[in-house]
Amino acid sequence: MTITDELTALEAQAQADLAAVGDMAGLADWKSRYTGKAGALTRALRSMGSVPAEQRPELGRRLNALRVLLDAAFESAESRLKLAAQDAELASDRIDVTMPGHAPALGHTHLTNQVIAQVHAIFAEMGFQLDESPEVELDSNNFGLLNFADDHPARDMQDTFYVEMPPEAPSVLLRTHTSNAQIHAMRRAAPQPLRVLVPGKCYRNEQVTARSEMQFYQFEFLAVGRNITMADLKGMLGFFAERMYGPGTKARLRPSYFPFTEPSAEMDVSCFLCEGKGCRICKHSGWLEIGGCGMVHPTVLRNGGYDPEIFSGFAGGFGPERIALLKYGIDDIRNFYSGDVRFVEQFG
Ligand code: DAH
Repeated sequence: MTITDELTALEAQAQADLAAVGDMAGLADWKSRYTGKAGALTRALRSMGSVPAEQRPELGRRLNALRVLLDAAFESAESRLKLAAQDAELASDRIDVTMPGHAPALGHTHLTNQVIAQVHAIFAEMGFQLDESPEVELDSNNFGLLNFADDHPARDMQDTFYVEMPPEAPSVLLRTHTSNAQIHAMRRAAPQPLRVLVPGKCYRNEQVTARSEMQFYQFEFLAVGRNITMADLKGMLGFFAERMYGPGTKARLRPSYFPFTEPSAEMDVSCFLCEGKGCRICKHSGWLEIGGCGMVHPTVLRNGGYDPEIFSGFAGGFGPERIALLKYGIDDIRNFYSGDVRFVEQFG
């Protein structure tokens, strides 16, 4: 084969290899094989010495022309590959603007807080002020000053979470009810009349079941003044029942016992589901129990700084979870704190 034939074959091979190059690494490899310093063209140039002198000019022209040709082919392959890389990048960045979007997830108020807000609004209409009391509380404010006898079963270790304290410190606990607010509110207001509503968390060392949680909310309402009677309590509850559960809902009081009220009563509202006819929710009684209440015990009034000869008052406590359980037919109180969004989202 003459050198000219060899160059023709080299050109064909170089062009074929270049056409097959698929990426930049392949292109660099091609360059070092053909047009680079140690490539085939350089080797052919070096072999000029062995060619008869009269053929050299022609061969030199061939070689130069081939270099120009292959360099140009290299450049066009390089820009082809760059464009392909850009296309691939664009394709991977591509977004379909006609696809349906993701709706942002919006939060909403938890059912418990919704009920608290509703109850607050109803009591605010009746002139009650929102108040608060400590969750970590002195034993005396939670029990003793509310007229609990020292051996009252509610003080039992099984019902109450006590806080570990040094031996000489007073007994401290997690409040078992919001009734501790009575002592704080009265001592702050006495001898002025007062009307407060106190929502808050309470804690009891109880077995967790579908009906009771260790942590739950309560409301305490308390009104103290001159000439406050049980009729005021009854009237207020009737107003609350209608506002909370709808027009026509009735309230009734059933005799009961609490150490801090005398007389004491359970508060019932007429079943708003069956309108008093009897159903599963009201256990066919036509009534739903929502909490306890009564006339503030004279001893408690005195502990709060009021003279029971001059002042009287009513108080009561109930739970927003129970109100919601009844209102929405929820069968398990543990749903409120389980954090299960399938439950929470139903009340958006
Ligand atoms: N503290 C009571 C409880 O947790 C509820 C209660 C009953 C509150 C009667 C009161 C009341 O203010 O007068 O079961």
